[in-house]
Amino acid sequence: MATSTAATLEKVVSLCKRKGFVFQSCDIYGGLNGVYDFGPLGVALKNHIKDLWIKEITQFPEDVVMLDGALLGHQDVWKASGHLENFSDPMVDCMNCKKRFRADELDLEKPCQSCGVKNWTDVRQFMLMFQTQLGAMSDKASTAYLRPETAQTIFTNFKNVTSSTRVKVPFGIAQIGKSFRNEITPKQFLFRVREFEQMELEFFCSPDESDKFFDLWLQRRRDFYKKLGLNKENLRFRKHKPNELAHYSKYCTDVEYCFPFGWKELEGIAHRGDYDLTQHSNHSGKDLSYFDATTNKKFMPHVVECSVGVDRLMLTILFDAYREDNVKGEQRTYLALSPTLAPITAAILPLTKKLSENAHKLFIDLKQKGFSVQFDEAGSVGKRYRRQDEIGTPVCCTYDFDSENDACVTVRNRDTLAQERISIDAVASYLQKLKA
Ligand code: GAP
Repeated sequence: MATSTAATLEKVVSLCKRKGFVFQSCDIYGGLNGVYDFGPLGVALKNHIKDLWIKEITQFPEDVVMLDGALLGHQDVWKASGHLENFSDPMVDCMNCKKRFRADELDLEKPCQSCGVKNWTDVRQFMLMFQTQLGAMSDKASTAYLRPETAQTIFTNFKNVTSSTRVKVPFGIAQIGKSFRNEITPKQFLFRVREFEQMELEFFCSPDESDKFFDLWLQRRRDFYKKLGLNKENLRFRKHKPNELAHYSKYCTDVEYCFPFGWKELEGIAHRGDYDLTQHSNHSGKDLSYFDATTNKKFMPHVVECSVGVDRLMLTILFDAYREDNVKGEQRTYLALSPTLAPITAAILPLTKKLSENAHKLFIDLKQKGFSVQFDEAGSVGKRYRRQDEIGTPVCCTYDFDSENDACVTVRNRDTLAQERISIDAVASYLQKLKA
């Protein structure tokens, strides 16, 4: 079986739309640039990614608790965090074709890549936060911002969490939720979008232990990506140079993936020091320092942050899983997704519609046991296999005429194409093992 990893951006975008993973938002009105909607399979894949992330970061000896902060943020939060001052990208316009670009991604000595004329405006800073007004008044006091990262709601709730729960430093607060950035040039499908979900962990520790925990979380994130099974040739950890560091970070390492459009950041692991809690203490007038009852010491906790976008990780997983091969002279496209991530774990296929009733009983039984399964009786079995392969379903269970006598189904593996006969009673435990 000849297998190639032939993922291109165009092929993955097309598969996502065709199979109901991702749609351009508002596409019946011409689309909203940099904004996407997730279809049934996209929601399932995203949920599996999020479940895996939570399971991963909560398994360690230190407590990690969850938060769900508001999307709208008080302007003072963003003043304190430094976003109002620093969260901008340099922007330049072509005066000839009126196209807008990020100035740091261009060589301004060269002509415009769109129209071939060299006629640039001056470079200006463009603020990436979406601004809005709360209530009926549109004065300065009612200005609020959609959060550009989930992290700040974690910092502003630090005292609430420590005083309402029994967690003690060192511990983490994790959050999965939407963030918004008015990117100048959203591009590469889900890679850079204006509305996205982040999975962020802010881990609070004493200053003395912060380097130790930074190294520990770096290793834990390495282990996570190994477990995820991404092609290790396409993954690297890259330490930031001092001139690349964000305004808040002491040091930072990016997890990078080799996308078809080059090596790009997938996750940022940052040592944020005590920057955020100190800023919020100073701006709010509330003391956010921590008293350690075992050492009788008061200190401002330091923070290790692990931050990854759900959408960007989903895109990475899709690129990594995309395969094309040739089965009996026929071109096949499939997603080699792990059974833990695959939107559908198994498809139940009656060989003919005459067998549908009994095959359907197996389908309902698996559904009731909590499995994500599909029932498909339309078209040849070969066609039905292809449909499941394309959405990454690890196994198909075919109910045939023999099933009526031996109470078994033929289970066909997506990747090896191997087939085995399994008792209907054992299918649930087979799928359970597959997902483990
Ligand atoms: N709290 C730190 C923070 O937000 P970041 O490097 O700006 O750091 C973290 O973002 C992660 O969020 C990125 O590594 C990426 O996975 C995701 N992300 C950021 N901007 C994004 C965008 N416009 N579209 C999709 N994902 C994005």
